[in-house]
Amino acid sequence: MAEYIETLLTEEEVDQKISELGKRISEDYAGRQVHLVGILKGASFFMCELAKRITVPVSIDFMSVSSYGASTKSSGIVRIVKDLDDPLLDKDVIIVEDIVDSGRTICYLQELFRDKGARSIRFCTLLDKPERRVVDISVDYVGFRIPDRFVVGYGMDYDQRYRNLPYIGVVRFED
Ligand code: IMP
Ligand code: MG
Repeated sequence: MAEYIETLLTEEEVDQKISELGKRISEDYAGRQVHLVGILKGASFFMCELAKRITVPVSIDFMSVSSYGASTKSSGIVRIVKDLDDPLLDKDVIIVEDIVDSGRTICYLQELFRDKGARSIRFCTLLDKPERRVVDISVDYVGFRIPDRFVVGYGMDYDQRYRNLPYIGVVRFED
């Protein structure tokens, strides 16, 4: 079966949206420093582009998490694969995600980061699938709301492939 990618959001659309998000964040955090925490691997492409468009002082860190297997996913237990390098105490943190689906990952991170003493915690995601949400959590900065489709590109993968696509698409199969 041949596989191809149907474009959902072009490189230009994504680029334009990231500029808007960067501008909003720069205005909201005027006079402060913002600490961006990107969730690997998916958010890395988006976070670099976002950081370049923020005009207030920025520091960055990354974290890698994974759900404890499919069967326990509903429990909302998240395993830390790579922890933060730097302390969060008294920092204004923005957790940067590629896509928010059930919302469990960011919900878990919010509690964890509160315990680490962050002064404030907000969320920024390139994509949001609100139909899939199972926890009550609001995302402060959303690039695009999309329907419940599995997407790839701009950091997001299908079996570890397609992260390098400069646009966002849906995987299709044909005979
Ligand atoms: P949540 O905890 O269910 O919100 O999971 C969010 C994570 O699931 C994202 O950071 C992605 O790693 C992954 N994910 C959810 N939907 C997609 C998708 O359509 N394509 C690629 N990864 C996805
Ligand atoms: Mg992810």
